[in-house]
Amino acid sequence: LFLLVQMVLRDRVCPGAAGCQVPPGERFDCGPERLLGRAGCEARGCCYGPPGPGPGPGPGPPWCFFPRGYRSYRAENLTATATGFTARLRRVAASFLPGDVGDLRLDVAMETPTRLRFTLRDPARQRYEVPLATPRASGRAASTLYGVRVSPDPFGLLVYRQRGGRVLLNTTVAPLFFADQFLQISTSLPSRFISGLGEHLTPLVLDTTWTRVTLWNRDMAPAPQVNLYGSHPFYLGMEDDGSAHGVFLLNSNAMDVLLQPSPALTWRTTGGILDFYVFLGPDPKSVVRQYLDVVGFPFMPPYWGLGFHLCRWGYSSTDITRQVVANMTAARFPLDVQWNDLDYADAKRDFTFNKKSFKDYPEMVQDFHRRGLRYIMIVDPGISSSGPPGTYKPYDEGLKRGVFIRNATGQPLIGKVWPGPTAFPDFTNPETHEWWHDMVKDFHDQVPFDGMWIDMNEPSNFVEGSQDGCPNNSLEQPPYVPGVFGGRLQGGTICASSQQYLSSHYNLHSLYGLTQAVASHDALLRVRGKRPFVISRSTFAGHGRYAGHWTGDVGSNWEQLYYSIPEVLLFNLFGVPLVGADICGFAGDTSEELCVRWTQLGAFYPFMRNHNDHGARPQEPYAFSPAAQAAMRKALCLRYSLLPFLYTLFHRAHSAGETVARPLFLEFPKDPNTWAVDRQLMWGGGLLITPVLQPGITKVSGYFPAGTWYSLAGPVVHGRGGGTVAVAALGAEPHPAPQEPAFSTAESRGKGMALVVALTPDGFARGELFWDDGESWQTFEKGDYTEILFLATHGAVLSQLLRASAHLDGVLLEAVTVLGVTSPPRQVLANGALVGDFSYRNDTQVLRVPVSLPMWERFVITWS
Ligand code: NOJ
Repeated sequence: LFLLVQMVLRDRVCPGAAGCQVPPGERFDCGPERLLGRAGCEARGCCYGPPGPGPGPGPGPPWCFFPRGYRSYRAENLTATATGFTARLRRVAASFLPGDVGDLRLDVAMETPTRLRFTLRDPARQRYEVPLATPRASGRAASTLYGVRVSPDPFGLLVYRQRGGRVLLNTTVAPLFFADQFLQISTSLPSRFISGLGEHLTPLVLDTTWTRVTLWNRDMAPAPQVNLYGSHPFYLGMEDDGSAHGVFLLNSNAMDVLLQPSPALTWRTTGGILDFYVFLGPDPKSVVRQYLDVVGFPFMPPYWGLGFHLCRWGYSSTDITRQVVANMTAARFPLDVQWNDLDYADAKRDFTFNKKSFKDYPEMVQDFHRRGLRYIMIVDPGISSSGPPGTYKPYDEGLKRGVFIRNATGQPLIGKVWPGPTAFPDFTNPETHEWWHDMVKDFHDQVPFDGMWIDMNEPSNFVEGSQDGCPNNSLEQPPYVPGVFGGRLQGGTICASSQQYLSSHYNLHSLYGLTQAVASHDALLRVRGKRPFVISRSTFAGHGRYAGHWTGDVGSNWEQLYYSIPEVLLFNLFGVPLVGADICGFAGDTSEELCVRWTQLGAFYPFMRNHNDHGARPQEPYAFSPAAQAAMRKALCLRYSLLPFLYTLFHRAHSAGETVARPLFLEFPKDPNTWAVDRQLMWGGGLLITPVLQPGITKVSGYFPAGTWYSLAGPVVHGRGGGTVAVAALGAEPHPAPQEPAFSTAESRGKGMALVVALTPDGFARGELFWDDGESWQTFEKGDYTEILFLATHGAVLSQLLRASAHLDGVLLEAVTVLGVTSPPRQVLANGALVGDFSYRNDTQVLRVPVSLPMWERFVITWS
């Protein structure tokens, strides 16, 4: 008997020399959950051996790896369904993981011509699935861009492009695992250009040389290689010919995504199901839109939300907060929204305010409103739980209404955040949304704030798990713990096995910020009746539909200044276009030069806020030398003058799933030089921003794809094939601006507009404007807006009203600047009337036409 068993075992453990001939870059780890020696490795039927001379210890090829053809599941009973097909998967060899599910159901749905979905579930048991409403397909799409093939044994799925046959996904490269707390699937990648998989401090393009990306939302000052505040299990891949595809794993459990040089990618998650979407593009913009078709298009922010926001931790009274606003006005800086951090609250408790230092809080906010400013304060999710009953309504009511997350004994779990002991609202419970609305309303009745800043919502907890620790169970100590910072799921947050309305916190953890954002968005809408404005630290896929994001506690240093660009670009790919980093840096003292450069870059964050840590050196624009202030003022004015353009981009994001700030490769996918550019960013398809990211320089180099690029100030900076060009950093010359800047959007919205027309070499240009009242709910959906198309061709620029409303009435077009007019015009006409005072410069080829034309009517300007 002994011999027999050994013989059977030998069959498994000696895959044979051929099966083990796997080049190091193609090896998939056979000992993911623990380090294996040769014997343990071979007992799994895997191959063991050092990868050869290499970099030594650290991330690299695994020593214990699967032989080629390692069998885990076999596919059977392939059957057609209304949307695609289904199959049964059966385990063909015992698994080494506890809780293995031996029988699986595969469903493949050809949902649209460009979107494929496939799921792997346990047919015998309903498992947790992410509660995100996704579109349902009724039938099978015809003429798809993709084809799908199943390899039956070992099971694998292949997705390829119909045209050309390029394989985008091939899961036969490594075995599939589906155990209760360990689900893993690997795929080859068609190229090394992979972008996405946030939230991490990372360049735009991920490194496929043995990189592990861990997703598990965590309060963590941004540093490379660690899991941060949000989870976005979505990547976009570029293919050699400039086509693009995307893959989304709809799963919210703690997970690792592993990248290796072959190139290949492994998804390794600790619960839920495997629920994949594949997007075929074929261009990268379409990939983003197809992803957003699934998770939701971004919300439309109010116009004022695109202005400048000023905040710090440490504005410790209304007097000081008022003084900040007064200083901004005195120094002639635009400002739209003044913020307060925890300082306003009584003992740091939500929905209270300090009756001494903030005694005139309501009046302060009303005063701000009278000056055309808006006001936002911080609201943390943790609800103070330590006061005597009857002293703090949010807790008393919350207890009564059963809104808090429960511990193993069914009591509210108590952790510790700023106010001391706190309970954590469970935003997956509909009753919690009602309670949250009631608290928001009560507070708003006292203090008429305009938006909410939701922080600490990973959720963050200053004690591990809870005040009483966490129970010992498989949710707290799963058989496999992804590479989370600190190595424990409870680290910096609440117990994984605590209970929420929809499921365990183990499953729902990374949805905490999103669910709080939804509740806050809905509460604000009900309370204010206007477009909500919510900025959240924690996020999950689909967040952009409800709220924006700031990138957390970034340090005041040049490295973080750079990283803010890929962060902003990635969040745009994730469908969260309203994003920005704390300008001048949050943690630590900034320097004048850094703060100037950060303000100049920050003027091009879709969400522009200067925010500072408690105790750090002041960094409001007025805190610096006159020269620094002048540079910052200019950057702010430039942003304000561009707000109609920015707002129009947000409209495109909201209505059509576009990005606002976008990486170059989205516009120039056929130029591989653009793919990794993350020291520049674009606004829409036409404005390229090349910021200074280093100290001590006045010239900056950037990549300019083939075409004609003008400086906003006029002259051509680059006009041939693509190339790297050095340009002068933001100088003193004024820019022709679409709108006359003002000190707030309340003021600027009434001012005249200007049009900048940047011609192609053959004299063509196109642009558009979306305009509404700036804050009513669903103006686009209700048709209450104006949309204008601008077209330039053959010495003429004209406007066309695609839709008209009264909101533009009274707004005049005051100037038209045409860049790239190659010969001096003799005559300029506006709506047929001679314009006498136009100007033209031969050296810059800029034509300036002063006009006074109603924006709400169509116009034609010609030059000849
Ligand atoms: C952490 C946030 O990230 C930071 O912006 C804020 O100032 C502090 N919490 C205090 O509320």
